[in-house]
Amino acid sequence: MKILFVGDIVGKGGRKAVQALVPELRREFGISFCIANAENMAGGGGMTRKCVEQMLRAEVDVLTGGDHIWDQRGFDDEIGLYPNVLRPANLNPGQPGRGWGVFKAPNGVSVAVISVLGRVFMNGFADCPFMAVDRFLQEIEGQAQVVIVDMHAEATSEKHAMGWYLDGRASAVLGTHTHVPTADQRILPQGTAVQCDVGMVGSRNSVLGRDVSAVVRRFSTGMPTRFKVVEDDIRLHGAIVTVDEAGRAVDIQAVSRDYHETP
Ligand SMILES: [Fe+2]
Ligand SMILES: [Fe+2]
Repeated sequence: MKILFVGDIVGKGGRKAVQALVPELRREFGISFCIANAENMAGGGGMTRKCVEQMLRAEVDVLTGGDHIWDQRGFDDEIGLYPNVLRPANLNPGQPGRGWGVFKAPNGVSVAVISVLGRVFMNGFADCPFMAVDRFLQEIEGQAQVVIVDMHAEATSEKHAMGWYLDGRASAVLGTHTHVPTADQRILPQGTAVQCDVGMVGSRNSVLGRDVSAVVRRFSTGMPTRFKVVEDDIRLHGAIVTVDEAGRAVDIQAVSRDYHETP
């Protein structure tokens, strides 16, 4: 069984690319289940109902979150409407929404997905992601053949540590948040696929999806600057993981595809 995992969708350009490319990739590679990180899909930060529904219609089965999950006002009241939208599991338990779920793929296989935040070089109030994944695995025991972890974090060390921590206990530990894909994809000895960061669905003419001149100005002058989202020259980055019947990963390959808007 093949699972497509798509990196951080950035803004409208990112959503359009997902709408065009995910159905195409699903057919081409025979994908049974698709997960996408969507923490930046609404105007570059957060999610809205409209965007969630757009992505679900684009054949994305589960949307995961990150540190920008609450950037859009009102989404805290709406996230509960969507069982397949996950906020980071290791946020305060009083926050709305849920951090993991078990979903049925069309081929009948149960897929458990969790979204967790790292803590190294990250702002925020996340609890320990390692304890969070342990709790998750305990709770889903016996309920899912395939287990996918979205490790939303900055530090490569913390992400690799999570991969090794879960080797043999998860089908894949895939990184998001940095928006830059890494070339370290591999299968660990006990059958867990890892990639530090799968990249983003965003503009190549940008810094992490944002306007180049604004970001360069901020870094070069230190002055506060508004970062516009760039909507052109979009490339989709993700990973395709193949798992066997026991839920062990047997292959992981990076996928990237350019999106050209048809006039
Ligand atoms: Fe992001
Ligand atoms: Fe993030």
